[in-house]
Amino acid sequence: MRLIRNFPCQGYRQLEELLQNASSASLPGSGKRQCPEAPDVGRETMLTDIWETPEVLRGLLQVYMKDGVVELPGLRDKLPPEHGLAGRTPLEIMAASSEKRMAEGFTNRFSIIGSGTSWHATLLAEYLIEYMARIPVEAHYASEFRYHEPSLQTGDVVFVVSMSGETADAVESLRQITKSALGKNVLKIAVVNSSSSTLAEESDLVINVQAGAEVGVASTKGFSATGFVFELLSLALADECGTITDAERSIFVKRLHELPEGMQEVLDREAKPLMQTSTDNPIGIGECPLWDIGCQNVLAQNFIFLGRGCSFPVALEGAMKCKELAYIHAEGYPAAEMKHGPIALIDEFMPVVVVCPMADATYEKIKSNIEEVKARNGATIAITEKYNDELEQLCEYVIGLPETHEYLMPILAMVPLQLLAYMMGILRNNTVDHPRGLVKSISVKIEETGSGYAA
Ligand code: BG6
Repeated sequence: MRLIRNFPCQGYRQLEELLQNASSASLPGSGKRQCPEAPDVGRETMLTDIWETPEVLRGLLQVYMKDGVVELPGLRDKLPPEHGLAGRTPLEIMAASSEKRMAEGFTNRFSIIGSGTSWHATLLAEYLIEYMARIPVEAHYASEFRYHEPSLQTGDVVFVVSMSGETADAVESLRQITKSALGKNVLKIAVVNSSSSTLAEESDLVINVQAGAEVGVASTKGFSATGFVFELLSLALADECGTITDAERSIFVKRLHELPEGMQEVLDREAKPLMQTSTDNPIGIGECPLWDIGCQNVLAQNFIFLGRGCSFPVALEGAMKCKELAYIHAEGYPAAEMKHGPIALIDEFMPVVVVCPMADATYEKIKSNIEEVKARNGATIAITEKYNDELEQLCEYVIGLPETHEYLMPILAMVPLQLLAYMMGILRNNTVDHPRGLVKSISVKIEETGSGYAA
């Protein structure tokens, strides 16, 4: 492990301070690292949000999975007579968009809409539903979707994803559909963290992600809960569309139930030291691998996050958290896209975080992307399964996760990315719970009162 990456220092007093902190703490033999800004564990912080994620996932399994079958409220209830698709259940309507039905001439599809972190959840949903249920899905930025005349067909399905359920771009996107000619003949589903929100009130079906209130403005457990709900929905659709074999299903369900414990294991190793640290109980080198990585790279001016398939939306969200919490410029890319441009950015000052589970069908491909980065002296931080010896050899840093199903790895891999951004944020003395320039949700009200955020 290279100790201190000598990033070009702009001489900021704070950066010098950080350099001072990081270098003094991590010199061999120093053993003890003074945590510059140990979070006041007495009060709730966004670290608490991340820490609560396993419990949130256990809660979702309890309420939405009955005897191995996914039971999302209203999924199997017929739509009311006033609806254009009356008499059919949401699950039937959704399954009618599957590949199998396409052969019969059906051309319905799903549109999933969201903003910010919720948009990354919509992209993850696109991969999961297409992979598991073979249903065509389009993910849309709400801020773009709301200004276009939607092209819809009777029987189409639209999900609007929003933690608050109040984000103006998301609400106006739903209203755009509702008032359109075919608005009555489309199934409108709100995926929200609040059933009393505007989006929930104006939709045909509400899926509550049950994440509970978040302390942090930047969403963490909300993203994980939303991703997990789409894992459950994808399983229900795969059952209904007959696109999953019994063998595949029992492996997936077994892994689904193991996920909260797997996540707890990662948190115990990577977050607990931070929860327990204090000025007279600093974190020692090696005690918390992710904290070491944070200290080693906190002076970076840029980060690149890479992933393939389901891991690509996670790379995007990892980059988003790096921007929101550490104020470090970061970009997320499908790993294979790197050679079509971003690779020009790679040098010894560019940390590259790669989400590369061995469970992923494209693992060998992503390994070669890591070699491309290494060939340009870029520092690679790999998120992969534990005991991945070849990446231990190949990469600068490796964060090992418990094994899980390829399609569930995004939920697990998100936690160390949230923690890394959080740790670099507190190392930079940022107000990580309330990042500068961000609000929890830019609601219609905020927009109307001219809050300085352009519609
Ligand atoms: C922004 C928040 O205002 O809204 C982001 O800062 C969030 O963290 C985005 O992802 C969307 O919010 P929501 O409530 O629609 O998911």
